[in-house]
Order: sequence, then C-alpha cells, then structure tokens
Amino acid sequence: MPALRLSASTQDLTRAARILAEGGLVAFPTETVYGLGADARQDHAVARIYKAKERPEFNPLIVHVADLDAAKDLVIWSEAAQALADAFWPGPLTLVLPLREGAHVSRLVTAGLDSLAVRIPAAPVAQNLLRAFGGPVAAPSANRSGQISPTRAAHVLEGLGDRIEAVVDGGPCAVGLESTILGLTGTPPTLLRPGGITEEALNEVLDTRIALRRETDGITAPGQTRSHYAPRARVRLNAVDFEPGEARLGFGTVPCDLNLSPGEDLTEAAANLFEYLHRLDATGAATIAISPIPHLGLGIAINDRLSRAAAER
Ligand code: TXA
Ligand code: MG
Repeated sequence: MPALRLSASTQDLTRAARILAEGGLVAFPTETVYGLGADARQDHAVARIYKAKERPEFNPLIVHVADLDAAKDLVIWSEAAQALADAFWPGPLTLVLPLREGAHVSRLVTAGLDSLAVRIPAAPVAQNLLRAFGGPVAAPSANRSGQISPTRAAHVLEGLGDRIEAVVDGGPCAVGLESTILGLTGTPPTLLRPGGITEEALNEVLDTRIALRRETDGITAPGQTRSHYAPRARVRLNAVDFEPGEARLGFGTVPCDLNLSPGEDLTEAAANLFEYLHRLDATGAATIAISPIPHLGLGIAINDRLSRAAAER
C-alpha cells in the first residue's frame, strides 16, 4: 500500500494522529527536515521506524513533544536546560538529558541508554500534529539510513513511500538542516551534532563554553557516521573550477547548474541544500561538484553534512 498523502488541515492531522495511536508510521514536516514519526511509547511502532529506515539498531531516536511540561515528564530537567529552552524552543535544538525514571517511552527509543534526546519543534504543522496526538513522538529524519535528508514530502515518498502509512505534506522545511544536538548529561555541555542553531548562539546563553565532540569519541549519533547524507553521485567538495559532465552546485557568483545562494546567504543555502542535492542527483550525473562554503555560523553545519556526503562509502 502506498503512503497516504495528507494535508495540514485539522481533519487530516486528526487522521494522522489516529494512525500514530494505532502504531502506524507518519512522516511529518518540522522546520528542520521531515521526520518519520511513531508513538514513542509503543515498542512495535518504534521498531518499525528502524526497519523502514534500514537503520542500524542501537542508534537512539529524538522524541518530539508539544511543550515544556511534556519534555519535563521524560527527562531530568536542569538550569542549563531551562536557559536553552527559554532561548531556543520551540526550534531546531535537541537536548540530550538524563532519562527520568519511569518515563513512558519505549526502550527502543533510547537504544538502552540512560539519556534521552528531546525537542520541541517550531513548525506549526508539527506543533498541531503533536497536540492532536497528545503524546511523545519518536522521529528520525524520514529518509533511508545514509541517504540525503528529506525537506519536501516528495523526498519522503521517493525513499519510504511503500513502507509508511502516511506523510503529512506541509511544504518545504524552513531551516533545511537537522537540529543542533547538545549533550547535557555531563559538564561541560557537548555539541553532538552541529545544526540549525549555531555554536555561537548556544555559547551566548550558557555560562560554560560548550565542548565539541571529537571524532575519536566514538559514534554517539548516527548522523555522525562518516558517510551519511549521501546522494547516489560522487561528491566533490571545494570545487573552484567545474569539470565537463559534472553537476555543478554553486555558492556565490559562480556559473553553475543550481546555486545554493547567489548572494552568499548561509541561511538560504541551508534551506536549499538537501533539495538541490536531490535535484542534481536526479540528473544522473556521475559527480556533483560543490563550491566552497564558508566555515562560520550555519556554514559549520552545512560543511558537516557535505563532508559526510562526500565521504568514502
Ligand atoms: O532536526 C532533527 O533533529 C530531525 C527532525 C525530524 O527532528 N531529526 C533527526 O533525527 O535528525 P535523526 O534520528 O536523523 O538524528 C537523531 C540524532 C542521531 O544522530 C542520534 O544518534 C542522536 O540524535 N541521539 C538520539 N538520542 C541520543 C542520546 N540519548 N544520546 C546521544 N545522541 C542521541
Ligand atoms: Mg538523519
């Protein structure tokens, strides 16, 4: 059965919420990327996420909730968490906090860890769905493991259309890059994945400077496996000149097939990144060559995704 394509209407979101309650998989838009949602309390539903994504077992999932009270039911809250939530929630920030004893989530969500990743998304469609459902929704990005993340309902259907019950079509995602993941289980806070909220913005809110996760720390986040976000085509980074036959993804004033941001705006580039990779991959080109992107602000997260897209598979 192909996935139902639902709209963001109240009626359709009620239907989506019912499918979640019945243990089904519903992809939905957040401001970062489309998530593949399941009721975080149902083992069987959560297990189906891993199966649909072909995700290696033991990689924990992010739980999405509608408000602070729902978050505090699941994790042990702290002053740092409160400061970050005040500044960035709802929004593209995920906090990893100690799991509260007796929290009602499947062990498959945390993959057995004693911490939980939680986030309140800002996109109105995600908010409305979470309120209609009234419980925690586990949701990784709605792509097959290792492939390009989805920022449009069409991307979800391409990758998972025959494996899920429904997708809520809320149009393109505004941020276009996954949330920043910050570990708050120890001191100092640790940046587990760069994303939609920059490191500078986090440091402005916290008393202690955040630590960066090192490659040698082991894989605590599958988005952190070296090959990830990969198109079918080979990816060539920091391309100053383009070669014949390459699909050319530009940034700034360069001749190219698609331009992430002619005016060198990193926010615009982030929003376009995954959609343009999808489009250039669909041309069938053997190589996608990509202009250099500055390593500052959102450019850090963009370069993180691009280096993984280009990594040895
Ligand atoms: O923007 C996003 O974060 C999107 C949307 C749908 O919310 N979700 C997303 O999920 O990117 P996913 O599964 O693709 O990435 C979640 C990351 C993984 O890299 C996972 O390892 C990490 O969060 N994670 C989850 N729980 C964790 C935990 N307890 N400790 C450390 N990392 C954790
Ligand atoms: Mg992902």
